[in-house]
Amino acid sequence: MITLLRKQLLACLVLMLIAVAACHRTASAPLQPPAVQTKSFQPRALRDVVFERTPERLARGKYLTEGLLQCFICHSGRDWNKPGAPPVANKKGAGHIWEDRPWLVAPNLTPDKETGAGNWTDDMFARAIREGISHDGRVLHPQMWYGSFRSLSDEDLASVIVYLRTLPPVHNPLPKTNIPEERKKTLEAPEPLVDPVPQPDLSNAVKRGAYLARIADCAGCHTAWEAPIVPGFYAGGNLIERGKEKVFSANLTPDSSGIGYYDDALFISTIRTGHVKARKLSSLMPWIVFRNLNDDDLKDLFAYLRARRPVHHVVDNTEPPTECPACGQKHGYGDRNSKKTVVPVSVDTRAYADYVGRYRFDDGFIVTISTGNNSIAGNNPSGSNNPSGGNNPNSGNNPGGVTNPNAGPHLFIQFGNDPHKIELLPISATEFTAADIPDVITFERNAQGQVTHLLSNVDEVGKKIE
Ligand code: HEC
Ligand code: HEC
Repeated sequence: MITLLRKQLLACLVLMLIAVAACHRTASAPLQPPAVQTKSFQPRALRDVVFERTPERLARGKYLTEGLLQCFICHSGRDWNKPGAPPVANKKGAGHIWEDRPWLVAPNLTPDKETGAGNWTDDMFARAIREGISHDGRVLHPQMWYGSFRSLSDEDLASVIVYLRTLPPVHNPLPKTNIPEERKKTLEAPEPLVDPVPQPDLSNAVKRGAYLARIADCAGCHTAWEAPIVPGFYAGGNLIERGKEKVFSANLTPDSSGIGYYDDALFISTIRTGHVKARKLSSLMPWIVFRNLNDDDLKDLFAYLRARRPVHHVVDNTEPPTECPACGQKHGYGDRNSKKTVVPVSVDTRAYADYVGRYRFDDGFIVTISTGNNSIAGNNPSGSNNPSGGNNPNSGNNPGGVTNPNAGPHLFIQFGNDPHKIELLPISATEFTAADIPDVITFERNAQGQVTHLLSNVDEVGKKIE
């Protein structure tokens, strides 16, 4: 779950123009943000576990590995001459050297003893997949998506490993990853997973879809993390490149500029065929593996996307690129968009005192909420400057030329250890956001009226600890 919050932190840092290590986006490789130094943990010791090989696990593992989790999109060579660039069949899982970063190698996962994973234990796999530590104890590059795989339940993880062990061994000698020193310094070991990870809440379509979207990291590609302005979660505009091919990811929110006009049938046919009606999708969208999902899972994914907050951001890769005021980049139909604004509404700011505190997410990530009298000038990079320099406690900052109608205290958010405070503005009685974060935040109260949790628009939940 950490992934989205950390990426959010990254989005703020980028907006603040603080230098962060360069990100790379490549074909098989949607943008993963540079690890933002928050806290580094000691990897846990390996355990002596062997996951029982059952037919149910084998089937579930194959389904996840060859579908939603995209393992072979990265751990195999791909045939770019075929639609969707499928993994090369007889080299499935046999590893792959990154084209634009030859020092990065997705290793051979097949059980070949000499060049593959034949000698690795089940727990070496488990720790690598969810906790980002290689079989020999090194922190893995986040291009391996352990950030999103972290949410895999214990049973799904066991299933993936049971399946991987049945792959035909492929002899494929590859060099070892050799991360440049500068980049290595910024890599942090994630917090080890010591508690059981139960099956997620699967009680309704939106919740089931949330789990699927999280472990597939749809938001990783479909949110413009690195753009000068992040229009919103799932609002598209993330530049994905492979050689000369450049595409911007699509807006997947239920806005008219996103998938507002989709229904179940169109969503399923898009993912299954790699075509939206007659238009062919770029092979950089991994529909080639998502097409292996069954109808029920695709419907759940769609239900989850439909339940997101609509964001207006037209992105059309078939049109010539034009300046986009919503994300600050140049992409097809960029000129059809307007600057992101946050229009604050009147609320009872006395409630702010209840929100103040520290909130802890599953993986240890901390978000701090505080109040203050002064709003922060320049908080909103897309909006106009606050002429009052943020010293006027009553007018608040001035996002995109709109005045905060609220007298009284202002509300602020901080991500991780970042000392920078971002002012949150109320956009309804219960929802808060800022122009420079893609999220919308709400606070949850218990039956006694005490604030107990902070909720993000992508279903991440932070528990109030102070
Ligand atoms: C977006 C690309 C990508 C995806 C998707 C991906 N991997 Fe990886 N994986 C990598 C890269 C790159 C590395 C090597 C990182 C390094 O060496 O620092 C890696 C490393 C690993 C390792 C560590 C091997 C070791 O040295 O101990 C394992 C195990 C692994 N991946 C398994 C998987 C499985 C299983 C899946 C699907 C659930 C998967 N990967 C999906 C890119 C990916
Ligand atoms: C590796 C990056 C990547 C990942 C991961 C990814 N997408 Fe995409 N997706 C793209 C890109 C790029 C496009 C735009 C392709 C184009 O315009 O040709 C796209 C387009 C789409 C479209 C077509 C939208 C339209 O009408 O134009 C849908 C639907 C979609 N993605 C759904 C998903 C879902 C659901 C997930 C997660 C299960 C997902 N994507 C994960 C990169 C990605």
